[in-house]
Amino acid sequence: MDILLIGAPGAGKGTQAEKLSQLLALRHIASGDLFHKAFEDQTELGLKARSYVDLGELVPDEITIPMVIRHIEEPESVQGVVLDGFPRTLAQAQALNEELGRLTRQIDLAIHLKVSREELLQRLSGRYFCQANQHVYHTKFRPPKVADRCDVDGSKLYQRPDDAGEAMRRRLVIYFNQTTQVLDYYREQRKLRVVDGNQSIDQVQNMLMNEINDYMSREAKA
Ligand code: AP5
Ligand code: MG
Repeated sequence: MDILLIGAPGAGKGTQAEKLSQLLALRHIASGDLFHKAFEDQTELGLKARSYVDLGELVPDEITIPMVIRHIEEPESVQGVVLDGFPRTLAQAQALNEELGRLTRQIDLAIHLKVSREELLQRLSGRYFCQANQHVYHTKFRPPKVADRCDVDGSKLYQRPDDAGEAMRRRLVIYFNQTTQVLDYYREQRKLRVVDGNQSIDQVQNMLMNEINDYMSREAKA
């Protein structure tokens, strides 16, 4: 099964994709996290992508598409993937379609996590990540048990520089101007489902699982 989560910055894609990948034994692939890892490892890809990410701009398709496709081709992805943050442009959606077709797979469900602008701003401004593994926290909605430390691996927590100021505003503008085209692409293919992402983390997770279970039972009957 191959699923993708589409939503604005701060919508909860990473939070929910991590849970879904555990529940469904699918690999979680997050394009933003792959860029972050490339920065940490100071790879050539990381150096190329950094200037775009820091400004809140999309990294060009020539860099992003091969990076994600390479991960889909790896043996760890053979049972299926939960994609988070990719595709964000029509060219990315088309490239993904071709790649999965080549592997005789397809996107089963594209789920739009719909969240209000006020809520997005609150979520981004209170968000923290752990340095070791990018586990996500929030000062108010998901505080760590020990201040400033990750519950899972104990590493220190940090804030993303693009979660504030002009870069954050740019990310929101790009999402509403450009990435929403990807919603139309999957709507036309009748693969799009919309989930109200304004609710608590557990409530959103239940609604996502309801959508996925509904899809699986329809497929089983077909
Ligand atoms: P990326 O890392 O993908 O950032 P994004 O799409 O802006 O999304 P976020 O990670 O900010 O939000 P999220 O939806 O994962 O929310 P989260 O679960 O953390 O991309 C970063 C950059 O990389 C881009 O700007 C671009 O430069 C580049 N890039 C990436 N992909 C690309 C692509 N395909 N093409 C080109 N460039 C690309 O939740 C947010 C916070 O809210 C957390 O603190 C969490 O604890 C909290 N929270 C989550 N759910 C809830 C809830 N239900 N209730 C209360 N709080 C909640
Ligand atoms: Mg994320």
